Amino acid sequence: MNTTAQAIEALAQETRRFPPPSGFAAQANAQPGIYEEAERDYLAFWESWARKLEWMKPFTKVLEWNEPFARWFADGELNASVNCLDRHVRAGRGHRIAYYYEGEPGDRREITYGALLDDVCRFANGLRKLGVKKGDRVAIYMPMIPELPVAMLACARIGAAHSVIFGGFSPDSIVDRVNDSQCVALITADQGWRRGNKVPLKANCDVALAQTPSIRHCIVAKRVGDPVEMQAGRDLWWSDVVAGQSTTCEPEHMNAEDLLYLLYTSGTTAKPKGIKHTTGGYLTQVAATHKLVFDLKDSDVYWCAADIGWVTGHSYIVYGPLCNGATSLIYEGTPDFPDKGRLWSIVERYKVTILYTAPTAIRTFMKWGLEYVQKHDLSSLRLLGSVGEPINPEAWMWYRDHIGGGRCPVVDTWWQTETGSIMISPLPGITTTLPGSATKPLPGIGADILNDQGESVPLGGGGYIVLTRPWPSMLRGIWGNDERYREAYWSKFPHQYLAGDGCRRDEDGNYWFMGRIDDVMNVSGHRISTTEVESALVSHSKVAEAAVVGKLDDVTGQAIVCFVTLRGGETGSKALADELRAHVGQHLGKFTTPKYLTFTQELPKTRSGKIMRRLLRDIAEGRMLGDTTTLADSSVVKELQERAKLEAGKDEG
Ligand code: WT7
Repeated sequence: MNTTAQAIEALAQETRRFPPPSGFAAQANAQPGIYEEAERDYLAFWESWARKLEWMKPFTKVLEWNEPFARWFADGELNASVNCLDRHVRAGRGHRIAYYYEGEPGDRREITYGALLDDVCRFANGLRKLGVKKGDRVAIYMPMIPELPVAMLACARIGAAHSVIFGGFSPDSIVDRVNDSQCVALITADQGWRRGNKVPLKANCDVALAQTPSIRHCIVAKRVGDPVEMQAGRDLWWSDVVAGQSTTCEPEHMNAEDLLYLLYTSGTTAKPKGIKHTTGGYLTQVAATHKLVFDLKDSDVYWCAADIGWVTGHSYIVYGPLCNGATSLIYEGTPDFPDKGRLWSIVERYKVTILYTAPTAIRTFMKWGLEYVQKHDLSSLRLLGSVGEPINPEAWMWYRDHIGGGRCPVVDTWWQTETGSIMISPLPGITTTLPGSATKPLPGIGADILNDQGESVPLGGGGYIVLTRPWPSMLRGIWGNDERYREAYWSKFPHQYLAGDGCRRDEDGNYWFMGRIDDVMNVSGHRISTTEVESALVSHSKVAEAAVVGKLDDVTGQAIVCFVTLRGGETGSKALADELRAHVGQHLGKFTTPKYLTFTQELPKTRSGKIMRRLLRDIAEGRMLGDTTTLADSSVVKELQERAKLEAGKDEG
């Protein structure tokens, strides 16, 4: 697709503004002045946050920058599990609840910091006994059960890097990831619960294990209880691994730059990238951002409703909240089990005060309707967060009005697996928010918007978002592939990290993310963001969700193709399709009127809820399909293909 134009056209106008409520502002962790403080000396700013961690050997150096490789606090030593657990227990906070746990079938547990430390030590001792040692990699493929953070922290305690593989991935995905980084052990569960069904985790591992010679042991936590195959010598029950183990375990002294974990994410090729995160800088920034962006207090019940298998869960269910001694919630299942009010019943039961979820979830709740929300008391909530994709103003307003009761600040947080922590987001006691904008870079963060020539685009314009200086939780590279690291992030513009997103800044310097740069269309020389068209569609009262892609077009270069789901499960009509196409034209300018519009019951999404635009583009253009193993529901694709064929046929006829 053509990415050579000057700047991305910003078409929507958003005039609503929400200053922080005065009561919230007065008590907020982040107070005005923090931006100036960080800007005066960003290294001193990060140093002060790093000093709040517990170091076994204090660091004397803050940053060594050998572009594009950063080393933060590089002569310091610390252990992540000690920072997450021991220091709270030693401070007399061992009885504090670290996690409320709710399984999908309704089973509940309360896990204190003291109990979590005991569990981590016992499992860490068990791993050591199996021969897992400092410097090894350990794969983890588990459902959302308490043993998952226990396994991660146990690895951290003994200096083994974890590589969590989301429980929705296929055996092939396990094989690729395990073999790429040569993991020595694989930790899993018998099965997991998902929408009342049993997910065959161990059986998937068995298929994978036939092709992963580096794995010596597979450790299996019992979650569901059905019998599973156990290969003698290789496979061990979790309960046997911890049996008789002590609840004390000497933590490894880790260098700040030792690998804490790998997390694989997709790039532009079929081979996933093993993103490397190290210890000191990562903990510094996840703890700082968790405290500042979510305004965490001891009295909070914090819920990040993501899966720990993605970076959001690593940073904002495990490491950030535990570093801060937070009380968090972990829920195993889907939001529609046993009914579509599950999340709201959880908020009510645990009196959740801070909720962090994704736009795709919010739009799904909108589609389901208010009745499920209104049945529950959500008055405990005081702050709402969004992450994962651009949030359209309508979803933002719905979230604010119907979940937040109009009283909670909404923080739209932009970041990536690669950045490790939140980079661009409001600070809820300071920032005036605008529906659909992630607002400004956080204190200490440098960002800019560049055009194709690498020049900074003045306020009011759009282009490529870049990060202009190193940050503590930045990726340290791609496992085994420094060249790909340089190529993907540091080659397009000299000395700038290329995030891969299109973004516009308004006259006040607020950032408006517009989707990945390969999701920008060029229609008759006009650059139009797929996100803006989606947002326009979703602003129509009948539309629940929309995905927009560009399709090659002889006349206009690209034509806009829309896939739309309707509220209340309606099926749509030719008249409504015309109305919606016109609606987009009215909203964004006539030239944006989509050429094609297809109704569908569901959009193809990855298990993490991202709309698979690449797949939709392939469907729109009638090309062969690539890998769809991460599709949540692959029947959706078949349906869409059929419909797209019909549409294209009409065109030719
Ligand atoms: C990509 C990163 C961040 C953790 C979960 C996703 C998109 C993420 C936002 C946001 C607009 C966003 C970007 C980014 N994205 N948050 N608030 N507004 N876009 O992590 O899988 O590494 O994806 O997600 O396109 O590049 P990820």
